[in-house]
Amino acid sequence: MNQIDGLSRVAVLGTGSAVPPGRLSNKDLEAMVETSNEWITERTGMEVRSVSTENEPLPVLGAVAATAALRSAGVERPSYIIFGNHKTGTYSVPDNAAIVAELIGVKCPAHDMSGGCSGGLIAEDIAANKLYGLLMQQLMRGEDISEVLKTTVLVLAGDTLTHVLDYKDRGTCILLSDGVGAALYGFTTNSTAIQEKHGYLGSYLMSDGALGRLLWWASGAGPQFDENLKYIGNAGTVDHPRHRGQKDFRPRFHMNGNEVFRHAVRKMTGAAEMLIQQLGIDQESEEYKTMLVIPHQANGRIVQAVIEKLGLPADNVWQLGVARYANNSLGTYMIAQDEMHTEGRLDKGRLLLKNAFGGGLTWGANLNRWALNPPTADLVMAIDEKLELMKEYYAKYKEWEARMCE
Ligand code: COA
Repeated sequence: MNQIDGLSRVAVLGTGSAVPPGRLSNKDLEAMVETSNEWITERTGMEVRSVSTENEPLPVLGAVAATAALRSAGVERPSYIIFGNHKTGTYSVPDNAAIVAELIGVKCPAHDMSGGCSGGLIAEDIAANKLYGLLMQQLMRGEDISEVLKTTVLVLAGDTLTHVLDYKDRGTCILLSDGVGAALYGFTTNSTAIQEKHGYLGSYLMSDGALGRLLWWASGAGPQFDENLKYIGNAGTVDHPRHRGQKDFRPRFHMNGNEVFRHAVRKMTGAAEMLIQQLGIDQESEEYKTMLVIPHQANGRIVQAVIEKLGLPADNVWQLGVARYANNSLGTYMIAQDEMHTEGRLDKGRLLLKNAFGGGLTWGANLNRWALNPPTADLVMAIDEKLELMKEYYAKYKEWEARMCE
């Protein structure tokens, strides 16, 4: 008998998301940069962006998404929190995850990680492997596993990326937005789930630092260099000629959209194909043909190209996020996963593939065989409640922040 037969499997136990209430439409952008509703719609499929104000900082969005995911799973508190983000909150230290833990009233290991816009996939992979690692350690010690099976890892992924955008640069400011998605990972002990191998199946992740030049912004820390890469001083003491001579340094998003576009299509579909191959999923099987896919919602044309390359029916591929929110960074596919689950579009046993790319460059894909039934209404947090909670968490956040100045 295979030693792992009958072992509990790691799966998503609940999902959540938080999108700030502010909206920036194509028409609004027409008044800000030389662009048009027609150009944006045709080239990107985007209609409106979710934009946070100072009242919805990153940890507040994270805390709302976290609370929604815990409710969705019927779990009171997570054992660990991993927050994938580009450090677009006010603080680099402490980690946004630690602030989220404080806001939701939990003491547990909580840390941030990045990984560009593929960071949500990476965070999910870390979560699943953490859980399997804990189980394996316990088994190797020959000890009882019942406590380990109660362990959960809360994955958060998202950003307030609009805070590093230059609203004079029409090549980038039209694309990006704010929001956070969440998934609570834990063990499923359900016998059908175990027999039918539900849950997290694995990932294919990759990066290429040589392509870092295609999408970057400076942290504001560390030694600073001029246009000719000559050292000019340390952060905080110098002007920043590489940032349009701004005296007060402000990180600014730089991107070569065309090249990123080409890499995105090739690398996202390549990652999906590699993963399907590695996991031995038969592309002729019914399971593959009915697989649901959430590509990073970076551009409607990128999503279309992914659909064509993977040869799946367009109805199986999520594209609503592009028009609903634009590209809310690591959040796009995690928010989509939550919306698919809460809108009852994910059936138990269905394959769900997510794939993404981002600064680094990084890219990848992961696969879940969905282990949940669509949630009952009491497990889903309504938008109004999320907005109320955003206010509550913001008040708490300000109290927390005030203590930093004591
Ligand atoms: N409004 C109007 N015109 C615009 C414009 C805008 N917002 N942005 C660029 N243009 C112009 C360009 O200046 C160019 O004009 P020119 O032909 O006179 O030089 C023309 O439109 C075509 O520009 P191009 O860059 O080739 O357009 P595109 O079809 O590649 O679309 C992006 C540009 C940025 C929308 C597209 O490349 C993209 O989505 N890339 C991926 C970026 C991404 O996903 N980044 C996030 C990664 S996580």
